[in-house]
Amino acid sequence: MELIIDAQALGADLDALAAYSDDEPPGVTRLVYGPADLRARAYLRQQCDEAGLVVREDGLGNLFARWPGSDPDLPAVASGSHIDALPHAGRFDGTVGVVGALEALRALRRAGFQPRRSLEMILFTSEEPTRFGLGCLGSRAMIGALTPDQLRQLRDGQGRSLDEWRTSAGFTAPLEVVALAPGAYGAFVELHIEQGPLLEVEGLPIGVVRAIAAPAALRVVIRGQSGHAGSVLMLERRDALLAGAELALAVEAAALGTGSRDTVATTGIFTIGPGAVNAIPNVATLEIDVRDIDLERRDQVLQAIKASTEAICARRHVTYDLIELNADPPATCDPAVVETIIKVCDRIGLPRLIMISRAYHDSLFMARICPTAMIFIPSRGGISHRSDEYSDLDQIGQGVAVLAHSLAALSHA
Ligand code: GLV
Ligand code: MN
Ligand code: MN
Repeated sequence: MELIIDAQALGADLDALAAYSDDEPPGVTRLVYGPADLRARAYLRQQCDEAGLVVREDGLGNLFARWPGSDPDLPAVASGSHIDALPHAGRFDGTVGVVGALEALRALRRAGFQPRRSLEMILFTSEEPTRFGLGCLGSRAMIGALTPDQLRQLRDGQGRSLDEWRTSAGFTAPLEVVALAPGAYGAFVELHIEQGPLLEVEGLPIGVVRAIAAPAALRVVIRGQSGHAGSVLMLERRDALLAGAELALAVEAAALGTGSRDTVATTGIFTIGPGAVNAIPNVATLEIDVRDIDLERRDQVLQAIKASTEAICARRHVTYDLIELNADPPATCDPAVVETIIKVCDRIGLPRLIMISRAYHDSLFMARICPTAMIFIPSRGGISHRSDEYSDLDQIGQGVAVLAHSLAALSHA
């Protein structure tokens, strides 16, 4: 099959999405259910209609664009990613996997391919944790790892519920039918930018992901006592910020302490109140992200952070609440799907690296319900979650070609 990827169309889709943003270019900020997200979704829905795909949306706004196969009752083969972008992010994280899946289906159609299993593009809602504090909302709910009741309890930082957000965004279908029927998919493949340096360093165009690291997140709210910055003497203070500052250092020490370069931990949110230069901070909120490819080691780091929180807060006479926002196991990609992708790379002459993903993706959850693997393309300088994130359009096109050939093979498997 001669497959021609339309790099111009891919570039136009990426440009269009990048323009739906609440940030100054080249930065992209697109929080789930905000106006930019809704305009980007409308654009993609139109592209799916023009491509002749059958579109369905669930109550969370997960979007499914299907090309029915000749045997439509067989479990489908899907590909997709997310379009939400954290504050001041780049234009490639997630979007490459969404417009890439769309272009893969368009290219297969142009080539006269006939799928046996249906092929589908999926746009997952809220892969980033920005609005509701929990990543991969759409895929978690689709696989039944988040129940409707748990979804209804989710709130943004201002206390507005996910239910209010999604219904005012027009997604009113019951949350009870977000979870997929068992056996809905026969395979899932996600195309994504690497978000790390390896492919560029090795000079290779394609990564084939064999495993995805285990992510976890904690929220710690520390409460001390406010007071006058001039009149409360140093030995009488219960400063919440200083307890939080010690905790942030303990987070770094816990990750370094494993001695493994695969352990990483980040305090990405640290806010204090009341927020006056002449008042002692009485509250500090920290959100802490911990990851490792090894689940046991990741959990040991979580335990070490919890023990440090207890010890620091006791010593500084402050109180705390600690919530585990998520603690997910790692995913192993399906060997047969990995092999399919490798064979495609070999056949079309693209050298590849078998690698792990240190970032999480909707594939982490899809892997629990169907054979799953990922295709990576290089990220310039390994940079991601920054406005200067960059991937080359030709290399994106190569990733889409690998994806399209892989979907074609899996559709007839
Ligand atoms: C995904 O955005 C991640 O934080 O890995
Ligand atoms: Mn991301
Ligand atoms: Mn992503």
